[in-house]
Amino acid sequence: MKYTVALAALLLSACAPAQVGSTEEAPVAAAEKAAGYRTLSGEKPIIIAHRGASGLYPEHTIPGYEAAIAQGADFIEPDLVMTKDGVLIARHDAYLSDTTDVADHPEFADRKVKRATPMGEKEDWWADDFTLAEIKTLKARQQFPARTKEHDGKLDILTFDEVMDVALAAAKDGRIVGLHIEAKWPEYYSSVGLDMVDPIIEGMKAKGLEEAGIPVFIQSFEPQFLAAFAAKSDLPTIQNMVGPPYNKMLGLEYNLDEMTTTGVGAEKTYILNADGTTTDFVERAHANGLLVHVYTVRDDQPMPGYDTAQAELNALIKAGADGIWVDYPDTAVAVRDGN
Ligand code: G3P
Ligand code: CA
Repeated sequence: MKYTVALAALLLSACAPAQVGSTEEAPVAAAEKAAGYRTLSGEKPIIIAHRGASGLYPEHTIPGYEAAIAQGADFIEPDLVMTKDGVLIARHDAYLSDTTDVADHPEFADRKVKRATPMGEKEDWWADDFTLAEIKTLKARQQFPARTKEHDGKLDILTFDEVMDVALAAAKDGRIVGLHIEAKWPEYYSSVGLDMVDPIIEGMKAKGLEEAGIPVFIQSFEPQFLAAFAAKSDLPTIQNMVGPPYNKMLGLEYNLDEMTTTGVGAEKTYILNADGTTTDFVERAHANGLLVHVYTVRDDQPMPGYDTAQAELNALIKAGADGIWVDYPDTAVAVRDGN
């Protein structure tokens, strides 16, 4: 199986630790609020629950998404991959071992196969080797060793439809939460006859997201997918950017002057310098009319040079970030709202 550079980018960016940081505490977000946010719109930045409240629950699970909504997240983020029978499911990776109990299923033992990846061969269970019915026999697990395992083995793997249902249920209760949808590996899936563009568009249409007033962003690391999506939809698109040093290692170059998307999804070291200063990245993106959404702030993994996630959040808000992906939405909402 062949993987492209874009797919390599996805693998490398998955849980890459931050590279740089600062020991200098940024001014508090409340001061930003008083002075007016430096976002493109001047409104407060959106808090995007990264794979749900993934610090508290296994990622992409009903309680994880519901907790994020209860904590005040503006958007929940499903990453999407595809099953063998062409169903969109919420998983970050094309493989299943890190976030499900697939390894504990003897009936799937022979489904563990090697695939070529940019980092060499990887032997694992791959979502598109399973039907949805088979995926539904698995349970989610927390992949971060230091986080609670108390929910492991109890929660289902969700379809995209089921994630949309969470947002629709909240909307019915008067709580509008958006969907920040990431298509993972679209070029690969397309190469094996599993198009992602139409299923996402048709899925949203069938669920009536627009009628329910649910805001949506479509994001991907793969520009071809975003262009194909934009040809069929007016929804805002976000070009995810692999962070340093992996961008250079992979030969990826991003030119803010030539982006045709609504915005970019930038790894946080594009904005935050090691000495506590910020780059002019947000300014340059805004000058091109681009939104800047930034990934990922984690309470339990502050980037080197920052003592806390709060310090990172304050610095990103001060820099003018339009949105921030976070594993712990309650922390981010509290910082943003000055609580
Ligand atoms: O999609 C951008 C953000 O979620 C960070 O990327 O690798 O966690 O999907 P990833
Ligand atoms: Ca994502």
